[in-house]
Amino acid sequence: MEHSYYLDLRFVPPGVPPHSHAYAILHELNHHEILKIWSPDEPTLLIAQLQHQMRHTLLTSVTQDGNGWAIEVRVRDDQELLPLVQTLRRDHDHLDRRFVQAMRHLQAGQLAEGLLGVAELERSLRAHIAMENELLAPLGMQGAPQATDLMLREHEDLLMQLALIAEIRDSSAGPRELDTWLGLLAASLNKHESREESLLFPEWTRVLACKPDQRKLLAEVRDRLGALSTPASGTT
Ligand SMILES: [Fe+2]
Ligand SMILES: [Fe+2]
Repeated sequence: MEHSYYLDLRFVPPGVPPHSHAYAILHELNHHEILKIWSPDEPTLLIAQLQHQMRHTLLTSVTQDGNGWAIEVRVRDDQELLPLVQTLRRDHDHLDRRFVQAMRHLQAGQLAEGLLGVAELERSLRAHIAMENELLAPLGMQGAPQATDLMLREHEDLLMQLALIAEIRDSSAGPRELDTWLGLLAASLNKHESREESLLFPEWTRVLACKPDQRKLLAEVRDRLGALSTPASGTT
């Protein structure tokens, strides 16, 4: 039987952001439990903040009465198939966290851990790009050809930057040089992910919804993103 917890956001202590309060409970929730939140404010922003903090693993439903909004939240079991957009956003988050970890190690002078982190990042990003080129680019070719072309060009640019970083990683250049190039790659990737999420995610979702074999494609996307099943160790 599912157990429920209740959170009324009218009674959150002053100065505590509502999403922080809800996150503290969600963080401890297991897959058989539900958090029922009552919010006096429209909850779109709150849900987006919680999804980000919980790495897009939340299932939510919202109902409105005259006085506010009732939000039911459940944490998705890792074995459940995530919808496409959540799967991709989650992998973007994984990539971003790998950057932060690798750069943190390098800046702290932990060269071995930093180099290992960079190698993991290279592997994950290459897998992500290859999957998007082979499985998702064809979905956007008809309805969003310009955005698809832009994505493919940006992927080439990211791969060139990755090749340069791999060269530096294997050379005798110091961590400072690696750190600089990683910073540039992080900026490129950040812009790329934002463009992809705003220009292509809606189109991919629309086209995928019309495909009879959508579950098969989703499963393949998920399989190709090895990062989903093997999150970086020591994630923050
Ligand atoms: Fe991409
Ligand atoms: Fe992507």
